[in-house]
Amino acid sequence: MTEAIRILPTTDAAIDEAAALLRAGRLVAFPTETVYGLGGDATDDRAVAAIFAAKGRPSFNPLISHIPDVARARELALFTPLAEKLAAAFWPGPLTMVLKRQPDCPVSHLACAGLETIALRVPAHPVAKRLLEATGRPVVAPSANPSGRVSPTTAKHVAEGLAGRLALVLDGGPCAIGLESTVVDATGERAVLLRPGGVTLEALEQVAGPVITSESDPDAPTSPGQLASHYAPALPVRLNATDVKPGEALLAFGPALPGAAVTLNLSETGNLEEAAANLFALLRALDRPGLAGIAVMRVPEAGLGLAINDRLRRAAAPR
Ligand code: TXA
Ligand code: MG
Repeated sequence: MTEAIRILPTTDAAIDEAAALLRAGRLVAFPTETVYGLGGDATDDRAVAAIFAAKGRPSFNPLISHIPDVARARELALFTPLAEKLAAAFWPGPLTMVLKRQPDCPVSHLACAGLETIALRVPAHPVAKRLLEATGRPVVAPSANPSGRVSPTTAKHVAEGLAGRLALVLDGGPCAIGLESTVVDATGERAVLLRPGGVTLEALEQVAGPVITSESDPDAPTSPGQLASHYAPALPVRLNATDVKPGEALLAFGPALPGAAVTLNLSETGNLEEAAANLFALLRALDRPGLAGIAVMRVPEAGLGLAINDRLRRAAAPR
């Protein structure tokens, strides 16, 4: 049985309706420049609980609160000098900062998984910004997919995974970046990279100086809920392929290896931005019954390649 799902183009009327639904405690999926988010009122424990339920997400994994500007962010969290610098450089955009909650922060403790910190992001997508303005409250939004599966970069992807579990999807077309935001702990003097994403490590370091990563410091924390297996297609995924085995589909990068049952290319010219934007949609497209698995060619570990490889490693991790 396929459940009906309402998908609306992003007219002013649709955005206002979505905002009203959010204020009434309902869930709405909306586009951001990274991936589609499954939004709920961050100050409403029941809406937050409904998000965890809709995704089948372990509740110890905290959510990002989205706000339309840095002034609204300062009302929710204590800004360090580092946070001010990062906000000035990367907001609006694909950066999430983890900061200490303000003592009177109205965001649900469930959204923060009981932590004294909160993750904040000001998205750059005009529809997300308008929706946040119209809602007038912080909106928590994890990627709009069942927990552990491939993240959605179109409204159709959202419908495939979550039909029947939300009131409305705002269709803003495909996401420009295609990978989730970079998550940085900005509570201290030095930035700690918790999840690679749309802002590259190189760009962060230009603004914030040396960043602590799990590479530079094996004891460095990562985001709670950075579960090993994630973003997982149903088929097994084999990384750094230098050949194609019988029956395998190929996810190519640059000139494709020969011999695959089906080949899709992240970027024929080896462009990492193009590859990031294509990653989740192509993983979905190759995830078809009757194939032996998905072989993935090597993607360089630089720039957006860090985030792409992070997602690919999780897609390939033992389930
Ligand atoms: O691009 C994105 O960030 C998308 C769009 C919709 O904004 N959202 C997204 O949300 O990817 P989600 O829930 O899939 O990822 C949130 C990440 C998780 O890795 C979580 O552990 C981390 O942020 N996080 C949230 N709150 C945190 C906190 N207080 N401390 C450390 N990590 C936190
Ligand atoms: Mg996600």
